[in-house]
Amino acid sequence: MAVFKIQRYDPEKDGRPYFQTYEVPVEQGMSILDCLFYIKERLDATLSFRASCRMGICGSCAMYINGLPRLACETQVTSLATDTIEVRPLPNYEVIKDLVVDLAPLFEKHQRVRPWIIPYDPVELDRPTKEYHQSPAELERYLQFAYCLKCGLCLAACPTVATDQEFIGPQALAQAFRYNSDTRDGGDTERMAAVDTLHGLWRCHMAGACAEVCPKGVDPALAIQLMKREAVFGKKKGRARLADPPHAVKLLPGILKAPEPTVKRSEGEI
Ligand code: SF4
Ligand code: FES
Repeated sequence: MAVFKIQRYDPEKDGRPYFQTYEVPVEQGMSILDCLFYIKERLDATLSFRASCRMGICGSCAMYINGLPRLACETQVTSLATDTIEVRPLPNYEVIKDLVVDLAPLFEKHQRVRPWIIPYDPVELDRPTKEYHQSPAELERYLQFAYCLKCGLCLAACPTVATDQEFIGPQALAQAFRYNSDTRDGGDTERMAAVDTLHGLWRCHMAGACAEVCPKGVDPALAIQLMKREAVFGKKKGRARLADPPHAVKLLPGILKAPEPTVKRSEGEI
Protein backbone atom coordinates (compact mmCIF):
# COMPACT_ATOMS: atom_id res chain seq x y z
CA MET A 1 0.00 0.00 0.00
CA ALA A 2 1.32 3.45 -0.89
CA VAL A 3 0.10 6.73 0.53
CA PHE A 4 -0.42 9.45 -2.09
CA LYS A 5 -0.39 13.06 -0.87
CA ILE A 6 -1.83 15.02 -3.77
CA GLN A 7 -2.06 18.77 -4.05
CA ARG A 8 -5.61 19.83 -4.79
CA TYR A 9 -6.69 23.28 -5.92
CA ASP A 10 -9.66 24.62 -7.81
CA PRO A 11 -9.08 28.39 -8.24
CA GLU A 12 -12.84 28.89 -8.69
CA LYS A 13 -13.66 27.31 -5.30
CA ASP A 14 -10.61 27.07 -3.06
CA GLY A 15 -8.89 29.94 -1.31
CA ARG A 16 -5.56 28.13 -1.39
CA PRO A 17 -4.05 24.77 -2.39
CA TYR A 18 -4.28 21.90 0.11
CA PHE A 19 -3.17 18.28 0.24
CA GLN A 20 -5.49 15.28 0.11
CA THR A 21 -4.33 11.78 1.04
CA TYR A 22 -5.28 8.53 -0.70
CA GLU A 23 -4.18 4.94 -0.13
CA VAL A 24 -3.42 2.91 -3.25
CA PRO A 25 -2.71 -0.86 -3.31
CA VAL A 26 0.41 -0.76 -5.47
CA GLU A 27 1.39 -3.79 -7.52
CA GLN A 28 4.67 -4.50 -9.29
CA GLY A 29 4.84 -2.55 -12.55
CA MET A 30 2.46 0.25 -11.58
CA SER A 31 3.43 3.76 -12.61
CA ILE A 32 2.42 6.95 -10.84
CA LEU A 33 -0.08 7.51 -13.66
CA ASP A 34 -1.64 4.07 -13.02
CA CYS A 35 -2.10 5.09 -9.39
CA LEU A 36 -3.71 8.40 -10.35
CA PHE A 37 -6.17 6.52 -12.58
CA TYR A 38 -6.87 4.13 -9.66
CA ILE A 39 -7.68 7.13 -7.45
CA LYS A 40 -9.85 8.78 -10.09
CA GLU A 41 -11.78 5.62 -11.01
CA ARG A 42 -12.23 4.13 -7.53
CA LEU A 43 -11.66 6.74 -4.82
CA ASP A 44 -12.26 10.28 -6.04
CA ALA A 45 -13.62 11.19 -9.48
CA THR A 46 -13.03 14.90 -8.83
CA LEU A 47 -9.23 14.61 -9.10
CA SER A 48 -7.96 16.32 -12.27
CA PHE A 49 -4.80 15.47 -14.19
CA ARG A 50 -3.70 15.23 -17.82
CA ALA A 51 -2.56 12.11 -19.67
CA SER A 52 -2.88 10.59 -23.10
CA CYS A 53 -0.39 8.11 -24.53
CA ARG A 54 0.69 6.42 -21.25
CA MET A 55 4.04 5.63 -22.88
CA GLY A 56 6.28 8.68 -22.60
CA ILE A 57 5.43 10.06 -26.04
CA CYS A 58 2.88 12.86 -25.67
CA GLY A 59 4.35 14.71 -22.66
CA SER A 60 0.88 15.34 -21.17
CA CYS A 61 1.43 13.73 -17.76
CA ALA A 62 4.24 16.04 -16.61
CA MET A 63 3.97 16.75 -12.88
CA TYR A 64 6.05 17.27 -9.74
CA ILE A 65 6.59 13.90 -8.08
CA ASN A 66 8.52 13.57 -4.82
CA GLY A 67 10.40 16.79 -5.41
CA LEU A 68 11.27 16.43 -9.09
CA PRO A 69 9.51 17.29 -12.36
CA ARG A 70 8.80 13.93 -14.04
CA LEU A 71 6.44 12.14 -16.42
CA ALA A 72 3.88 10.23 -14.32
CA CYS A 73 3.56 7.42 -16.89
CA GLU A 74 7.32 6.83 -16.98
CA THR A 75 7.80 6.89 -13.20
CA GLN A 76 7.47 3.48 -11.62
CA VAL A 77 6.23 3.61 -8.02
CA THR A 78 8.92 1.15 -6.95
CA SER A 79 11.66 3.36 -8.43
CA LEU A 80 10.87 6.01 -5.79
CA ALA A 81 11.83 3.56 -3.00
CA THR A 82 9.25 4.97 -0.57
CA ASP A 83 5.63 4.30 0.40
CA THR A 84 4.80 7.99 0.66
CA ILE A 85 4.43 9.82 -2.62
CA GLU A 86 3.77 13.51 -2.93
CA VAL A 87 2.35 14.75 -6.23
CA ARG A 88 2.01 18.42 -7.08
CA PRO A 89 1.40 20.39 -10.28
CA LEU A 90 4.50 21.51 -12.21
CA PRO A 91 6.12 24.60 -10.69
CA ASN A 92 6.57 27.79 -12.79
CA TYR A 93 3.12 27.43 -14.42
CA GLU A 94 -0.35 28.67 -13.42
CA VAL A 95 -2.58 25.93 -12.00
CA ILE A 96 -5.85 25.36 -13.87
CA LYS A 97 -7.05 22.66 -11.48
CA ASP A 98 -5.26 20.13 -9.23
CA LEU A 99 -2.40 18.68 -11.32
CA VAL A 100 -3.39 20.42 -14.56
CA VAL A 101 -1.31 23.49 -15.37
CA ASP A 102 -1.60 26.11 -18.09
CA LEU A 103 1.02 25.24 -20.72
CA ALA A 104 0.16 28.24 -22.94
CA PRO A 105 3.42 30.10 -22.08
CA LEU A 106 5.46 27.02 -23.12
CA PHE A 107 3.76 26.84 -26.52
CA GLU A 108 3.82 30.60 -27.07
CA LYS A 109 7.59 30.72 -26.44
CA HIS A 110 8.10 27.67 -28.63
CA GLN A 111 6.21 29.34 -31.48
CA ARG A 112 8.30 32.51 -31.09
CA VAL A 113 11.45 30.73 -32.35
CA ARG A 114 9.69 29.63 -35.56
CA PRO A 115 10.16 25.89 -34.97
CA TRP A 116 9.94 24.72 -38.54
CA ILE A 117 12.26 24.60 -41.54
CA ILE A 118 12.43 27.97 -43.28
CA PRO A 119 13.82 27.27 -46.76
CA TYR A 120 16.57 29.47 -48.19
CA ASP A 121 14.32 30.06 -51.19
CA PRO A 122 10.67 30.65 -50.09
CA VAL A 123 9.40 29.47 -53.51
CA GLU A 124 10.74 26.00 -52.67
CA LEU A 125 8.11 25.72 -49.92
CA ASP A 126 5.22 25.44 -52.38
CA ARG A 127 7.06 24.32 -55.50
CA PRO A 128 10.06 22.22 -54.48
CA THR A 129 12.48 21.55 -57.30
CA LYS A 130 14.54 18.81 -55.68
CA GLU A 131 15.06 16.61 -52.63
CA TYR A 132 17.23 17.98 -49.85
CA HIS A 133 19.50 15.18 -48.69
CA GLN A 134 21.34 15.10 -45.38
CA SER A 135 24.34 13.04 -44.39
CA PRO A 136 24.30 11.08 -41.09
CA ALA A 137 26.77 13.65 -39.72
CA GLU A 138 24.44 16.52 -40.63
CA LEU A 139 21.52 14.72 -38.96
CA GLU A 140 23.63 14.13 -35.86
CA ARG A 141 24.02 17.90 -35.36
CA TYR A 142 20.39 18.34 -34.32
CA LEU A 143 18.96 14.84 -33.75
CA GLN A 144 18.92 14.80 -29.93
CA PHE A 145 17.08 18.16 -29.90
CA ALA A 146 14.44 16.80 -32.29
CA TYR A 147 13.34 14.31 -29.59
CA CYS A 148 11.67 17.09 -27.57
CA LEU A 149 8.11 16.16 -26.48
CA LYS A 150 7.08 19.69 -25.43
CA CYS A 151 6.31 18.26 -21.98
CA GLY A 152 7.50 21.42 -20.22
CA LEU A 153 9.50 19.64 -17.49
CA CYS A 154 12.59 21.70 -18.31
CA LEU A 155 10.78 24.99 -17.66
CA ALA A 156 9.52 23.62 -14.35
CA ALA A 157 13.08 22.77 -13.31
CA CYS A 158 14.74 25.97 -14.55
CA PRO A 159 15.76 28.40 -11.77
CA THR A 160 15.85 31.28 -14.25
CA VAL A 161 12.24 30.67 -15.34
CA ALA A 162 11.35 30.65 -11.62
CA THR A 163 12.70 34.17 -11.23
CA ASP A 164 11.96 35.62 -14.68
CA GLN A 165 8.70 34.49 -16.25
CA GLU A 166 9.64 36.39 -19.43
CA PHE A 167 12.72 34.21 -19.96
CA ILE A 168 12.10 32.34 -23.19
CA GLY A 169 13.31 29.17 -21.50
CA PRO A 170 15.25 26.01 -22.30
CA GLN A 171 12.65 24.30 -24.48
CA ALA A 172 12.31 27.13 -27.01
CA LEU A 173 16.05 27.81 -27.03
CA ALA A 174 16.85 24.16 -27.71
CA GLN A 175 14.37 24.18 -30.59
CA ALA A 176 15.89 27.38 -32.02
CA PHE A 177 19.23 25.59 -32.06
CA ARG A 178 17.67 22.45 -33.56
CA TYR A 179 16.35 24.32 -36.60
CA ASN A 180 19.36 26.64 -36.91
CA SER A 181 21.55 23.52 -37.12
CA ASP A 182 19.54 21.93 -39.92
CA THR A 183 21.30 22.17 -43.28
CA ARG A 184 17.92 22.57 -45.05
CA ASP A 185 17.10 25.68 -43.02
CA GLY A 186 17.84 29.31 -43.81
CA GLY A 187 15.96 30.94 -40.92
CA ASP A 188 18.71 31.47 -38.35
CA THR A 189 18.68 35.29 -38.68
CA GLU A 190 14.96 35.41 -37.78
CA ARG A 191 15.46 33.00 -34.90
CA MET A 192 18.48 34.81 -33.52
CA ALA A 193 16.40 38.00 -33.47
CA ALA A 194 13.92 36.15 -31.22
CA VAL A 195 16.50 34.72 -28.81
CA ASP A 196 19.33 37.29 -28.76
CA THR A 197 17.37 39.47 -26.31
CA LEU A 198 17.27 40.56 -22.67
CA HIS A 199 15.06 37.60 -21.73
CA GLY A 200 16.61 35.18 -24.21
CA LEU A 201 19.93 33.38 -24.54
CA TRP A 202 21.85 35.58 -22.16
CA ARG A 203 19.57 34.96 -19.16
CA CYS A 204 20.68 31.30 -18.97
CA HIS A 205 23.06 30.85 -16.05
CA MET A 206 23.93 27.30 -17.04
CA ALA A 207 22.33 25.64 -14.01
CA GLY A 208 21.79 22.57 -16.19
CA ALA A 209 18.56 21.53 -14.41
CA CYS A 210 16.75 21.35 -17.77
CA ALA A 211 19.05 18.61 -19.01
CA GLU A 212 18.82 16.74 -15.69
CA VAL A 213 15.04 16.36 -15.86
CA CYS A 214 14.44 15.91 -19.60
CA PRO A 215 12.78 12.49 -20.11
CA LYS A 216 14.09 12.26 -23.68
CA GLY A 217 17.76 12.98 -23.05
CA VAL A 218 17.60 16.38 -24.73
CA ASP A 219 20.30 18.71 -23.40
CA PRO A 220 18.86 22.24 -23.74
CA ALA A 221 21.75 23.67 -21.67
CA LEU A 222 24.20 22.45 -24.32
CA ALA A 223 22.09 23.95 -27.12
CA ILE A 224 22.02 27.29 -25.32
CA GLN A 225 25.80 27.39 -24.85
CA LEU A 226 26.40 26.46 -28.49
CA MET A 227 23.98 29.14 -29.61
CA LYS A 228 25.70 31.76 -27.41
CA ARG A 229 28.92 30.87 -29.21
CA GLU A 230 27.20 31.30 -32.58
CA ALA A 231 25.74 34.65 -31.46
CA VAL A 232 29.23 35.94 -30.70
CA PHE A 233 31.39 34.30 -33.34
CA GLY A 234 28.87 33.76 -36.12
CA LYS A 235 27.75 30.47 -37.53
CA LYS A 236 30.44 30.03 -40.12
CA LYS A 237 34.16 30.03 -39.57
CA GLY A 238 35.71 33.43 -40.23
CA ARG A 239 32.39 35.30 -39.79
CA ALA A 240 33.22 36.68 -36.35
CA ARG A 241 30.68 39.09 -34.91
CA LEU A 242 32.85 40.34 -32.05
CA ALA A 243 32.84 43.88 -33.47
CA ASP A 244 29.03 43.77 -33.40
CA PRO A 245 28.07 42.67 -29.85
CA PRO A 246 24.82 40.78 -29.35
CA HIS A 247 21.76 43.00 -29.05
CA ALA A 248 21.03 42.23 -25.38
CA VAL A 249 24.54 43.05 -24.23
CA LYS A 250 24.35 46.46 -25.87
CA LEU A 251 21.03 47.21 -24.17
CA LEU A 252 21.80 46.14 -20.60
CA PRO A 253 22.19 49.28 -18.48
CA GLY A 254 25.03 49.19 -15.96
CA ILE A 255 26.27 45.80 -17.03
CA LEU A 256 29.29 44.88 -14.94
CA LYS A 257 32.63 45.16 -16.68
CA ALA A 258 34.62 41.99 -16.87
CA PRO A 259 37.27 41.84 -14.13
CA GLU A 260 40.87 42.44 -15.06
CA PRO A 261 42.46 39.22 -16.28
CA THR A 262 44.77 37.70 -13.70
CA VAL A 263 47.06 36.34 -16.39
CA LYS A 264 48.11 39.13 -18.75
CA ARG A 265 49.26 38.46 -22.26
CA SER A 266 52.59 39.93 -23.26
CA GLU A 267 52.42 42.84 -25.71
CA GLY A 268 51.80 41.86 -29.32
CA GLU A 269 50.47 38.40 -28.36
CA ILE A 270 47.07 37.59 -29.82
S1 SF4 B 1 13.52 19.63 -23.78
FE1 SF4 B 1 12.96 17.74 -22.69
S2 SF4 B 1 12.05 18.47 -20.76
FE2 SF4 B 1 12.06 20.23 -22.18
S3 SF4 B 1 10.02 20.17 -23.17
FE3 SF4 B 1 11.46 19.01 -24.51
S4 SF4 B 1 11.25 16.86 -23.83
FE4 SF4 B 1 10.35 18.13 -22.21
S1 FES C 1 0.77 10.08 -20.85
FE1 FES C 1 1.91 10.64 -22.61
S2 FES C 1 3.89 11.04 -21.81
FE2 FES C 1 2.80 10.32 -20.10
